[in-house]
Amino acid sequence: MAKIIISEDDFQKFQEYFYRKTGIQFEESKRYFVDKRLVERIEATASENFRGYFTMLRFQASGAELQALVNLMTINETYFFREEYQFACLVNSILPEIVARKKDKSPIRIWVIPSSSGEEPYSIAMCLLERWADINKWDVEIISSDIDTKILAQARAGLYSARSVKHVPKSYMQKYFRQTAHDYQLSEELRSAVEFTRVNLMESADVRQYRNFDVIFCRNLLIYFDDVSRKQAVETFYDALHPGGFICLGHSESMSRISSLYKIRKFPEAIVYQKPLEGR
Ligand SMILES: C[S@@+](CC[C@H](N)C(=O)[O-])C[C@H]1O[C@@H](n2cnc3c(N)ncnc32)[C@H](O)[C@@H]1O
Repeated sequence: MAKIIISEDDFQKFQEYFYRKTGIQFEESKRYFVDKRLVERIEATASENFRGYFTMLRFQASGAELQALVNLMTINETYFFREEYQFACLVNSILPEIVARKKDKSPIRIWVIPSSSGEEPYSIAMCLLERWADINKWDVEIISSDIDTKILAQARAGLYSARSVKHVPKSYMQKYFRQTAHDYQLSEELRSAVEFTRVNLMESADVRQYRNFDVIFCRNLLIYFDDVSRKQAVETFYDALHPGGFICLGHSESMSRISSLYKIRKFPEAIVYQKPLEGR
């Protein structure tokens, strides 16, 4: 088989298409990363060249090839208790405000998007169980979503490397994990505390049903988007949140340039964003 070459023109076509589909913008500096994965899929699908593959990708009714490509192109870096100060903020500052307002005693709903392999939503579940005094008085629903179906399967399985659990407190390790030959397996109790779903944040048909959340964690995703996609994402979150609901972003992400829909709240532990309460 002849060596498959991705030309500059091919790269640009692909870059534009992938951006429209996912919001992810690949700069020229990511050329090697992108080309390598494209060639891998061109070969796996026995396509003749980029042109044949790209046509199939765009017109395939099932969307299976696009999903396979998305699973290869996403960067899933994450670990337990990453940016932990925000979990302290959730327990000490955000939840007390939410429960004080929740007169109807409806469940507290938390959306963690993107989930990657699940370390973030499971860390949140552990923090609530171990550090929030009111946990037994409230129903809490944690829903966690990602565009990558392969990483979601990993999240549901709850198997983690030593590197991934490095920052988990010892007592939580003993309580919530079981060591296997090669990994650490999360307990069934904790796995059942999080519901994982496939969502493309850039796809309005996917996000439409996500409503009535009290808190959204969207950390380390907006860094891969340009300002247009970021704006679309935070507008989606606006519709998904209750009035007065909160958003936590990653430490290098900010809303200031993208949207004025939210109020900035400076809590002792972290700066977060809040959808204004009606009439205020
Ligand atoms: C670096 S991980 C962040 C994981 C976790 N939130 C954290 O901060 O550790 C980025 C994740 O975003 C997901 N992602 C990329 N584009 C997405 C989109 N359009 N919709 C939903 N998830 C997306 C990727 O699949 C990947 O798992």
